[in-house]
Amino acid sequence: MPDIAIVPAPRELTLHEGRWTTADPVGEAVRDVVENLDATEYRIEITTEGARLTAGSEDALRHAETTYAQLVEAAEPVEDGKVAVPLAHVADAPRFGWRGMMLDVARHFMPKEFVLKIIDVLALHRLNVLHFHLTDDQGWRVEIEAYPRLTEVGAWRDHTMVGRMSHGQTEFEYDGTRHGGFYTKDELREIVAYAAERGITVVPEIDLPGHMQAAIAAYPELGNHPDRQLTVRPYWGISEDVLNVNDATVEFVKTVLREVLEIFPSPYVHLGGDECPSVQWAESDEAQKRQAELGLDEPGQLQGWFTAQVAEVLAEEGRRLVGWDEMVETDCPKDAVIMAWRSAQRGVVAAKAGHEVVMAPCESVYFDYYQGDPETEPLAIGGNIPLEKVYDFEPVPAELSEEEKALIVGTQCQIWTEYMEGPEQVGYMLLPRLSAFAERAWGSPKVSYDEFLGRLRPHLARIEKLGVNYRPL
Ligand code: ACM
Repeated sequence: MPDIAIVPAPRELTLHEGRWTTADPVGEAVRDVVENLDATEYRIEITTEGARLTAGSEDALRHAETTYAQLVEAAEPVEDGKVAVPLAHVADAPRFGWRGMMLDVARHFMPKEFVLKIIDVLALHRLNVLHFHLTDDQGWRVEIEAYPRLTEVGAWRDHTMVGRMSHGQTEFEYDGTRHGGFYTKDELREIVAYAAERGITVVPEIDLPGHMQAAIAAYPELGNHPDRQLTVRPYWGISEDVLNVNDATVEFVKTVLREVLEIFPSPYVHLGGDECPSVQWAESDEAQKRQAELGLDEPGQLQGWFTAQVAEVLAEEGRRLVGWDEMVETDCPKDAVIMAWRSAQRGVVAAKAGHEVVMAPCESVYFDYYQGDPETEPLAIGGNIPLEKVYDFEPVPAELSEEEKALIVGTQCQIWTEYMEGPEQVGYMLLPRLSAFAERAWGSPKVSYDEFLGRLRPHLARIEKLGVNYRPL
């Protein structure tokens, strides 16, 4: 039997004795969207007579094409420029509807051309969501016409800390290099269209009300100390400078979101919600007044109120709110999709509270963590997630009931770029861990890690062809 190296492996693949001889396996294959398959299912039948790809939708047909292209790589040359294609039957459908990757372009800006390559990588792995982390303390990356200073000021920082940040660190050494950049609306529309052509939804994230220091540097009136001129944050960690909870700030954010919604047709929009300290709200007369008006017990509860206010813009446009798992603790809207990042257990809590959940736990799918010995690996944030651990990741916690398990709508890997200055570093941290992740997101049969490695080795050539860096096995 020939060596077939499809990644992620299809749910069902059967090989038969015999070959189909053809000059052009891709051009000669018959393709059909049919009614008797569900929207996500596809089939491939290769007989001595030819190849037929059928699918329940255009998206699923695209998946059939991707699998088929990998399958016919096993064809062997015969006479007259023809090839002999192995006979095969594939019946396939993904386990999850949300099979994502998050790319942080705030900590380090990534060129548009590289974002398009990342989309190619996602398509190669039959993943379907690019979660685009567009704003953070260290940079604002999306053009907003109503507020040009968000990019004029917020997209640039004078310099960046050197080395790894330690807990509680307050003194820094800087690199002396201005860093920044942003995407124009036209560039973002190009990214969205490029992704859509490949069956991928770009979910924008505007992280709020914390992680907003770049915006507050651009518009100090958004902060709790409007008299202070902040800089775009040149080091990592969690900033206490968060948005204030005034009506004018709510309106500001709503205007921003309306522009974001115009660019991104995604049914889902991510409003962050992670790591939002409430110390400034506790100290602010205005925030305290708001807390009293709303009858809230603690300043931290203002986060839920603020998010609900600005999320009205999403509801008006029929979009779903997505948020990091802290949102569960802030009385967020019940229909919010929760992205569990602090641990898989946070996903359990969110599902038990009735939320749909995307499992993105840091202990399994944070690809900014080390993947080998820190002594020999490039500087990373910490942790240790080698390839085999990703391969062994199970997105659905066993302790959930069947009803709760159905709320796990998908899974996502994360690339936070504090310690990745550009495409080369991102590629190294992302791949091939993303290939292992894609197997779990798709629901590929788990044979053994060795079996996976056997398919992965030839698969690396496909990644290389896309011009993306990866960590050699
Ligand atoms: C996160 O890693 N702060 C979502």
